[in-house]
Amino acid sequence: MHASLIALVSTIATAAAAPGSSDGASSSSTTTVRNTPYAEWPASHFAESCSPGGCFASFNISAPAGYVAGAPAFDVVCHPIYIQQDWLDCDNTRTGQANSRVQSMWTDVSQRGLVKISVAHIWTRESGQRNNASGFAEIDAGKSMFSIPVTMLSAVL
Ligand SMILES: *[C@@H]1O[C@H](CO)[C@@H](O)[C@H](O)[C@H]1NC(C)=O
Ligand SMILES: *[C@@H]1O[C@H](CO)[C@@H](O)[C@H](O)[C@H]1NC(C)=O
Repeated sequence: MHASLIALVSTIATAAAAPGSSDGASSSSTTTVRNTPYAEWPASHFAESCSPGGCFASFNISAPAGYVAGAPAFDVVCHPIYIQQDWLDCDNTRTGQANSRVQSMWTDVSQRGLVKISVAHIWTRESGQRNNASGFAEIDAGKSMFSIPVTMLSAVL
């Protein structure tokens, strides 16, 4: 029983360490992708609207400080534009977040009625290390509330 407990503990330790995958190309950058999210960012007030020029969405999203170690809080309103399919800055609803910004992106989903929303929080530590925590969700466009599971975390020195 004692031996199997040790085996279990070492399996957990290995599983926890293994998902850390470095891109290998740059020695100072690491990206960790996790199946179990680091955190969930709650979003509300989702709405989309379309005009002949394209479609845009808007939603509020926030996170408490320390959702991963050292991360500042944010509270923003995002308005990704469908046709651009690229990251766009969200608007800070709080001041004093000089080293922190949030971006969002709206991309295609194969399934009708769903939209794919990605959100990234980029912040810089006092050490100068830049972090990028991100995740995405495929959401029902008719619902105003959803959450983004944070599954990717990058650190660049
Ligand atoms: C969502 O953002 C808008 C615009 O800043 C703000 O007026 C509203 O209070 C926010 N709602 C919530 C629930 O945070
Ligand atoms: C943040 O990470 C996401 C996911 O890897 C990536 O697509 C995005 O370009 C990154 N943003 C910045 C500013 O590095």
